[in-house]
Amino acid sequence: MEYIKLNNGVEMPTLGYGVFLVAPDECERCVTDALSVGYRLIDTAQAYQNEEGVGNAWRKSGIKREDLFLVTKVWISNAGEEKAAHSIDESLSKLQTEYIDLLLIHQAYGDVFGSWRAMERAYRAGKVRAIGVSNFQAGRFFDFAHYVDVKPMVNQLQCNALIQQQGIEPLHAEFGTRMMAWGPLGGQGVDGIVKSEALAAIGAKYGKSAAQVALRWLTQRGIVAIPKSTHKDRMAQNFAIFDFTLTDDDMAQIATLNQHDTGTINFNDPQFVKYLIQNYG
Ligand SMILES: NC(=O)c1ccc[n+]([C@@H]2O[C@H](COP(=O)([O-])OP(=O)(O)OC[C@H]3O[C@@H](n4cnc5c(N)ncnc54)[C@H](OP(=O)(O)O)[C@@H]3O)[C@@H](O)[C@H]2O)c1
Repeated sequence: MEYIKLNNGVEMPTLGYGVFLVAPDECERCVTDALSVGYRLIDTAQAYQNEEGVGNAWRKSGIKREDLFLVTKVWISNAGEEKAAHSIDESLSKLQTEYIDLLLIHQAYGDVFGSWRAMERAYRAGKVRAIGVSNFQAGRFFDFAHYVDVKPMVNQLQCNALIQQQGIEPLHAEFGTRMMAWGPLGGQGVDGIVKSEALAAIGAKYGKSAAQVALRWLTQRGIVAIPKSTHKDRMAQNFAIFDFTLTDDDMAQIATLNQHDTGTINFNDPQFVKYLIQNYG
């Protein structure tokens, strides 16, 4: 496994396993499989409703807590100082742990400054080892990072070989914030990456699949990738990316595949904001 160092010195694996849309009753089996494959970073969220499954799997795995890196996220309905604080304690209880390795604000809506104060308090109290945000696009990210006391250690964004998020990197660098890629294989039901002929051709040189090349490309950019699969063979395939290195030419060729630098969701679109807040706020 390779690691990055966050701006507070915490070391974080560059590859993890994500459990978005993994049904609560299937989550324990999936995370058990992922841990047996070798994953040690697990990315869940309050909104995924499967934190208990993650907690059950690691408890039964026998893996030492310090060898695990648990990530979860405060949902919009828990925004604000008091509600966020309560939700952090709930997440700790569901994950069956004394501390969360990385806690993120899931979406940039509601009283995010209030949530951050609760997260800073949890961080200082040792309930959380690192704090960050998710889906904070460039302008929103800068505004937020500029005004908060503890600077975000991570911004989790939609990022992959077709949505490369190159533009936000200088802003992240100003605050020492590291990027974490959701949808690293293109997300649910999208074949653009796993069936990419360009990525497959690069992978053929190393005996690797298009998916493996896409994940390796992210980690070589210093971005943490958290692919999801409910299939153990795919979990293993996605994990086997540290025994080859893409050349500068490969990296440059993949950079030409960029189609949409900032992601397929416009988080400023009033229809999207209304939908999210009215249905999930
Ligand atoms: N912060 C946020 O707002 C946010 C949003 C979305 C996701 N996330 C996080 O990011 C994680 C990953 O993103 P994601 O789940 O949207 O998408 P993803 O990991 O890019 O792609 C998952 C899809 O790819 C398939 N797949 C996985 N490995 C494959 C392989 N080697 N070959 C072919 N197909 C493969 C999976 O199918 P099977 O399961 O059938 O194998 C699933 O349909 C999530 O689980 C979650 O933890 C965060």
